[in-house]
Amino acid sequence: METKELIVERKGAVAVLTLNRPEVLNALSDSLVEAVVSEMERLDKEEGVRAVVLTGGSKVFAAGADIKGMADATSQEMQKSDRLAKWERMRKISKPIVAAVSGFALGGGCEMAMSCDMIVASENAVFGQPEILIGVIPGAGGTQRLTRAIGKYRAMEFVLSGRRFSAQQALEWGLVNHVVPNELVVEEAVSLAEEIASRPPIAVRLAKEAVNWAVDVELGEGLVKERQHFYKLFDTEDQKEGMKAFLEKRKPVFKGK
Ligand code: CAA
Repeated sequence: METKELIVERKGAVAVLTLNRPEVLNALSDSLVEAVVSEMERLDKEEGVRAVVLTGGSKVFAAGADIKGMADATSQEMQKSDRLAKWERMRKISKPIVAAVSGFALGGGCEMAMSCDMIVASENAVFGQPEILIGVIPGAGGTQRLTRAIGKYRAMEFVLSGRRFSAQQALEWGLVNHVVPNELVVEEAVSLAEEIASRPPIAVRLAKEAVNWAVDVELGEGLVKERQHFYKLFDTEDQKEGMKAFLEKRKPVFKGK
């Protein structure tokens, strides 16, 4: 669902989605979030696509949910429309998503990056949950995902004060995977996505699900579920090919079957 606000490109097996509202620093309007989520849902079903990169380009990732679109809303209207519920659909995407973050990733921007599976940040990336400064709190996962990613005490500081933190801090605390020069951020994210896209896709899907269990379920349950996924993969042609190729000392050819 390419719109003016969302540019969709293909680089081989990788789809690149670019937020495109530069005049408002990619503020995430309802329609932009809907475009992102529904495009990801569509790509999740498209066979040729094996990984997705989400970016705001080289200047800004996103400065948050669109404040203009909600400034005058009442609590009743917000609850009735439950506009942030659509963000949760990103959790159901089974293909890996890499965020390429440059510049501001604030509020909903930080939350959208954290809704991805991996984050490549540029040296000038700035993260934060500044909602407290405008009288609210994060509403699209910020209190939950930031806390899980960087720990309770750090998250408490940033969510309650509205302070920002740098790409380097995010790297030290485990929120981002890599920090790279600004001009390379999309390239690096695509390169990571391409590498993952070359792996057997059923195993990649099950691996993503299993890693998420480490965050979402109790350890004993996670271990049982992981083991079941491991056994399940012995029904795939790619497992047979992968192990056979190893034994024959050649490169495997994965078919996604
Ligand atoms: N919503 C709507 N418009 C926004 C916006 C947002 N979140 N962020 C920036 N803009 C607009 C500005 O209004 C401005 O538009 P005009 O030129 O028409 O005035 C334009 O983008 C450029 O912004 P600035 O002039 O403010 O740029 P700056 O470089 O001086 O500052 C900034 C950049 C620090 C990011 C600043 O724009 C800012 O603080 N933005 C708001 C950040 C924020 O509070 N985000 C949280 C939103 S609430 C949320 O996300 C809830 C949730 O959990 C889902």
